[in-house]
Amino acid sequence: MSNKQSQQRYAIGMVGLGVMGRNLVLNMGDHGFSVVGYDKEPSQVEALRKESADRDICGTENINDFIAMLRPPRAVIILVPAGAPVDSVIKDLLPYLDKGDLIIDAGNSYFKDTDMRTRHLTAKGIQFLGVGVSGGAKGARYGPSIMPGGPKDAYERVRPVFEATAAKVNGDPCVTYLGSGSAGHFVKMVHNGIEYGVMQLIAETYDLMKRGWGLNDDEMHEIYALWDKGELNGYLVEITSHIFSKQDEKTGKRLISEILDVAKQKGTGMWTSQSAMELQVPIPTIDLAVAMRDLSVFATERELASVIYQRSQRRFVGNRNLFQEQLGRALFAAIIITYAQGMALLAVASEKYQYRLDLEAVTRIWRGGCIIRAALLEDICAAFRAKHNLPNLLLDPNLSRKLMEHQEDLRQVVCQAAELGVPTPGLMVSLGYFDAYRSIWLPANLIQAQRDYFGAHTYERNDAKGAFHTDWEKGEET
Ligand code: 6PG
Repeated sequence: MSNKQSQQRYAIGMVGLGVMGRNLVLNMGDHGFSVVGYDKEPSQVEALRKESADRDICGTENINDFIAMLRPPRAVIILVPAGAPVDSVIKDLLPYLDKGDLIIDAGNSYFKDTDMRTRHLTAKGIQFLGVGVSGGAKGARYGPSIMPGGPKDAYERVRPVFEATAAKVNGDPCVTYLGSGSAGHFVKMVHNGIEYGVMQLIAETYDLMKRGWGLNDDEMHEIYALWDKGELNGYLVEITSHIFSKQDEKTGKRLISEILDVAKQKGTGMWTSQSAMELQVPIPTIDLAVAMRDLSVFATERELASVIYQRSQRRFVGNRNLFQEQLGRALFAAIIITYAQGMALLAVASEKYQYRLDLEAVTRIWRGGCIIRAALLEDICAAFRAKHNLPNLLLDPNLSRKLMEHQEDLRQVVCQAAELGVPTPGLMVSLGYFDAYRSIWLPANLIQAQRDYFGAHTYERNDAKGAFHTDWEKGEET
C-alpha cells in the first residue's frame, strides 16, 4: 500500500470486485466519489486497478488496508452472490467495524435473509441496508435502477451516491427509499419475477413464429425490432431483436440456434412464487415462467415424449401480417397481466410486512436502468399516481381500456397455438388469470361442496351467514 493510499480516507468501500461490483465502483468514481474496492482474488483487484485510471478509486486484497482506507463512520457495499457468501463477508468484516458503520448488501439476497441480517447487525450497532440493483453489468457501469430498503437515516447517508450513480429518466434518478427492513430486496425479487414472466412470454411468441409460421432469424429480428418501436417498447423486447441478428463466431450461423434449450435460474423467480403462495396472492404467469425453466431441464424426457406423442408440426395458414400484429397485441396484453400480478403481490406484501411501499415510486424507478424497463411503465406509474392503493392494475381505467382492446387478440393467439400444438402456457395462463379475475362468479362453490362432502370442511351460503355442513350422502343409495 502506498503512503498516499494509507493517508487517504475513502467515502465508500466495495466488497466483491466481480464485473458487477467493479462496474459499480467505476460508476461511482465517474461521479466523483472516492471508493476503495476489496476482493480476496488478486486478479479482480488488478482488473479494477487497470480500469480505474483518473478516478479516486483504489483496490486491495488486504482487509486491514481496506478498513484503514475507509472514512468513518464507514459505508461498505457488498456485491457477492446471494446466500452464504454474503454471510461470510459480513462475518469477515464484523471484527473490523465499529458501532454506527453501515453495511449495504447490493446483491440479489432473499428478503428473509435480509430481515435476519438486519436483526443480527442492528443488535451489534451496525446499520444495514438491503438494496436491489438491476440492469446487469452495463446498468451497474452506466446507471442501474436501485431499490433500497432499511433504516431511512442509513439511506440518507448514501443517498447522494445512489442518486448520482442511478439511471436517469428525464433527469429523475431511478432510485428512491422504498421502506424499512427487507423492502428493497422484496421489490427487487418481484422485479425479477416479472422479468421471468415477460421473458417466458417473449419466448413463446418466438416459438409460435418459428415452429408455427416457419419464420427465420432475420424475420424474427425485424419483427421484434418493429414491436420495440410501438407499445411493446422495452429493454427485453429490444435485446430479443438484437439476439436474432447475432452471428456465432465459431460456426458462422446465428448464435441463437447454437444455444442449448435448457434455461437456468438463480432463485429470484422461485422466491417470488413461494412468497406469493405464502401471501396467497395469485401470480400464475410468474409461477409458470419458473415452471417452464424447470421443464426445459428435463431434456432427455422431452426427447422421449416427443417420440411417443409425435404429431406433424402444423403450420399457420392465414394472413401472416394480420397474425403478426395480433401476436404483438396478445403479447402486450399478457405483459400487462404479468405486471398486474407482480404489483398485486407487492401491494399485499407491503401491508403484511409493513413496508409501506409507494407503488408509484416503485414503478417510477423501474422506468430506467432495470431489466423490465418498458414504455408500459409510464402507464403503470400513472395508474398508481391516480390511485395510490390500487389493489390490481387490471382495475385501472386506462390499462383496463388497453386490455379490453387487446384481449380478443390474446384469445385468438392462444386458440391458434393450441391448434398448432406450439406450447404457449404463459400466454394461456395469463388469459386464464384475466378471465378469472374479471369473473363475477367462479366455480369455487363446487370446490366448497366437494370439501364439505369428503371432509366436512363446511361452506358458506349466499342467503345466510355462518358455516354450514351437509350430509351429502344422506338418503342416497349405497
Ligand atoms: C437484473 C437481473 C439480475 C440477474 C437475474 C438473473 O435485474 O439486473 O435480474 O439480477 O441477471 O437475477 O436471474 P436468473 O439467473 O435467475 O435468470
